[in-house]
Amino acid sequence: MNNFIYHNPTRLAFGKGQISTLSELISGENNLMITFGGGSVKTNGVYDQVRNALSNHDYIEFWGIEPNPTVETLRKAVNTAKENSIDFLLAVGGGSVLDGTKLIAAGICYDGDPWEIVLNRNGGRSVPYGSVLTLPATGSEMNRNSVISRAETNEKFAFISSRYPDFSILDPMVTFSLPPYQIACGLTDTYVHVVEQYMTSTGQSRIMDRWAEGIMLTMLELAPLIRENHRDYDLMADFMLSATLALNDMIRMGISEDWTTHMIGHELTALHGITHGESLAMVLPGTLRTLKEQKRGKLLQYAERVFGITEGYEEERIEQAIEKTENFFRSLGLSTRISEAEIGIETIESIADRFNKKGVTYGENKNVTGDVARRILMECL
Ligand code: NZQ
Ligand code: ZN
Repeated sequence: MNNFIYHNPTRLAFGKGQISTLSELISGENNLMITFGGGSVKTNGVYDQVRNALSNHDYIEFWGIEPNPTVETLRKAVNTAKENSIDFLLAVGGGSVLDGTKLIAAGICYDGDPWEIVLNRNGGRSVPYGSVLTLPATGSEMNRNSVISRAETNEKFAFISSRYPDFSILDPMVTFSLPPYQIACGLTDTYVHVVEQYMTSTGQSRIMDRWAEGIMLTMLELAPLIRENHRDYDLMADFMLSATLALNDMIRMGISEDWTTHMIGHELTALHGITHGESLAMVLPGTLRTLKEQKRGKLLQYAERVFGITEGYEEERIEQAIEKTENFFRSLGLSTRISEAEIGIETIESIADRFNKKGVTYGENKNVTGDVARRILMECL
């Protein structure tokens, strides 16, 4: 196991009615701006709950942070925040509102264009922020990551904020209004987060392996039940907590990681607007097939411990595990092939080209270049 420091200071307030505790979590002394997406919170009652909880606070509102938040929108938010001397932000929405708010929080402390913060990858100083999460998927509610798009150039990159959310409120009741497609994407995103921290080499940490396998098994058990009834409180509570645990640093202590599928998925979103979770469903099987030699031991462990596959030649067990993974995404109603979205060779070449030009090397062995990404995407056709 590698050395590591673990320090996650986000306070989780989980369960029914927790939104009403907002007034205790945010000081009345703060200059507060609340950020929102496109309006789902107005139809499902979350907006009213937030307003009631903060009835004795002064604040301004910023609306319109879109899915795959763009720097074009966030520049406006930073300007509004600066004009109003904002020193605390509250994000109310899904991962996009949260990620966008992380950039606003850093942008307030930065003199230049917020896109430079994204390109630097390192957020620098940031004002504090908290969240009311409405969509289980990204883990953004308890991590420092933020993924920002630039519409003008069809780019989508991640940067790391210097701050974790001070608090996040997770009330599973607010997920009842989610459309089934967003739930399918959230289940997939959660699952793939775990896979990308797990599927490297064996023998690094027993506890990290078991923790990751525990979340994957939980997702496989929950998903069909949630597909039947996503207004069951206990099911959605387990899903919401799994999504947070999948990407809050808990399952990556001291081990290597491979974010290849996410990096390629972000390109599919940037170039074709594919929803994040579905982009991962399209890419992960191809990543596993292409990199199966370097991941052989872990794929066999995954086959056995997650899917109970113990019979047959190694090659067959690995292929069965990848097929079961792909079938899981299909059972959620998602596409698992880029050709289903009419994406073909032209896009594959442009992604390979982008990676090669940037000179990036992803994966636990830093060997996923543009050329390897091309091979992966050919498997995804
Ligand atoms: O904008 P509104 O009107 O609120 O509607 C949203 C949006 O249209 C809707 N929605 C959210 N909660 C709802 C709801 N509709 C009904 N009821 C509710 N309770 O759902 C739509 C999608 O929302 P979005 O926030 O875009 O989804 P998600 O949470 O999946 O976030 C996706 C973004 O997060 C990034 C992705 O790349 C993408 O940009 N990620 C962030 C990560 C992180 N910060 O750690 C890691 C992830 O791997 C991911 O890359
Ligand atoms: Zn993700």
